[in-house]
Amino acid sequence: MKASICIDKHFTAGTVDPRIFGSFVEHLGRAVYGGIYDPGNPLSDENGFRKDVLELIRQIDVPVVRYPGGNFVSAYHWEDGVGPKALRPNRLEPAWTAIETNEFGLNEFMDWTKAAHTSPMMAVNLGTRGAEDAKNLLEYCNIAGGTLYSDMRRSHGYEAPHNIRLWCLGNEMDGPWQMGHKTAGEYGRLAAETGRLMKMVDPGIELVACGSSNRKMPSFGYWEDQVLEECYDQVDYLSLHTYYGNPQDQSPDFLACSADMDAFISSVVSICDSVKARKRSKKQICLSFDEWNVWYHSKEQDKQLPRWIQAPPQLEDIYNFEDALLTGSMLITLLRHADRVKIACLAQLVNVIAPIMTDQNGAWVQSIFYPYMHVSRLGRGTVLQTLIQSPRYESQYGDVQFLDAVAVENGENGSLTIFAVNKNLSEDMDLTADLRQYSNYHVHRHIVMTHQDLKAANTREQPHQVFPENSGVSSLSNGILTSRLPSKSWNVIILK
Ligand code: AHR
Repeated sequence: MKASICIDKHFTAGTVDPRIFGSFVEHLGRAVYGGIYDPGNPLSDENGFRKDVLELIRQIDVPVVRYPGGNFVSAYHWEDGVGPKALRPNRLEPAWTAIETNEFGLNEFMDWTKAAHTSPMMAVNLGTRGAEDAKNLLEYCNIAGGTLYSDMRRSHGYEAPHNIRLWCLGNEMDGPWQMGHKTAGEYGRLAAETGRLMKMVDPGIELVACGSSNRKMPSFGYWEDQVLEECYDQVDYLSLHTYYGNPQDQSPDFLACSADMDAFISSVVSICDSVKARKRSKKQICLSFDEWNVWYHSKEQDKQLPRWIQAPPQLEDIYNFEDALLTGSMLITLLRHADRVKIACLAQLVNVIAPIMTDQNGAWVQSIFYPYMHVSRLGRGTVLQTLIQSPRYESQYGDVQFLDAVAVENGENGSLTIFAVNKNLSEDMDLTADLRQYSNYHVHRHIVMTHQDLKAANTREQPHQVFPENSGVSSLSNGILTSRLPSKSWNVIILK
């Protein structure tokens, strides 16, 4: 099968905001306890942070981590998680029917972000709480001292303010499952008033309002429009969330899910701009795709878990090779929308629907770790408009191309990187690209991740079942790139 891509170095699609390579740590399952935080384990440092996990996170180079939820945040009292640990309460955690000990809280998270070389994206509780508590939390975090909450922070051993710049106004408030679920009008008003108050306390912060929990929500479209109608002037970003699965084992359909993500992004951009036009505003709202991933493997087994225990092994999806292919395609989709998607979080980071897994004896990486790491490390710079000519196939999302690809030029080191997925399950693809504007370049590396078995997965015992290799066949001659993309493969072609 033959396919081609066409790029022109002057036709750019947007500058990559590195925050699109963000991730998410929620107080859920073993994400925090036994994941990033495991005091007493010989693998942990003096703060209880798992060093093996930190090392893997630094390998990905995760610029921002959303915290503490998720559904969890919608009944969370941040005050429970600060101050002397002996005084912190055990709480019933209704979102995930667990017990939260509060041993790890805001200040531990801020210490951890430094060790992980990342930055925080903090969510406030707009489910059971409101503007007043969000203001207090912001005062605790960002004000130098001399007031009730800033002095409280100092008394907890944090003299300097945390200076958190990025804040989420609640989580998935459109969802009936959400504690404190609201109508679009109710939430829009609350987001506007909370945002106004928070920016009075610290005008330097950026705010993310909740969009729809996914494109299938009955209120999708109406929700975005009404929420922005109320809070357009107070917020900077609108969120999107989506998770895909393959419960019917229809792999071609599953691999086409990136087309749904693409349409979701385009629709939300249109709604943002329609509200902008209606308001005759000069301000542009950008998107925060702050939860995206594959999530379905663990849903049945989680129904068997006991309720009201601490850190149950929830949402521990074991990802296979086809999940990694879709992850690669979703990353390509985010890059192709780099002009408007400025923040995105792979949900989540450790143990819970995560690229990194742990047990008491060590950490290991799942199949989805690799495309995430490749794009985070190599996908920074300027996205080029990447026109694709490829055979197509019929899927649940209409006809989609077998080839998914995007090119990114790195202004700092001059490299050009092409990320590509061949979704054809039986045929290799001969890819050509006219790169005469890069004729003095050479193929530095062609990384390929492929496997005969779409269901192959890494496990603790066999951690290298799905693994990338520098075995790709690519050459650049007279300015024409030719590459062989194996059937069902993830490819990273680096030219210098
Ligand atoms: O990431 C898991 C959950 O998915 C989050 O808590 C929630 O926001 C979403 O529904």
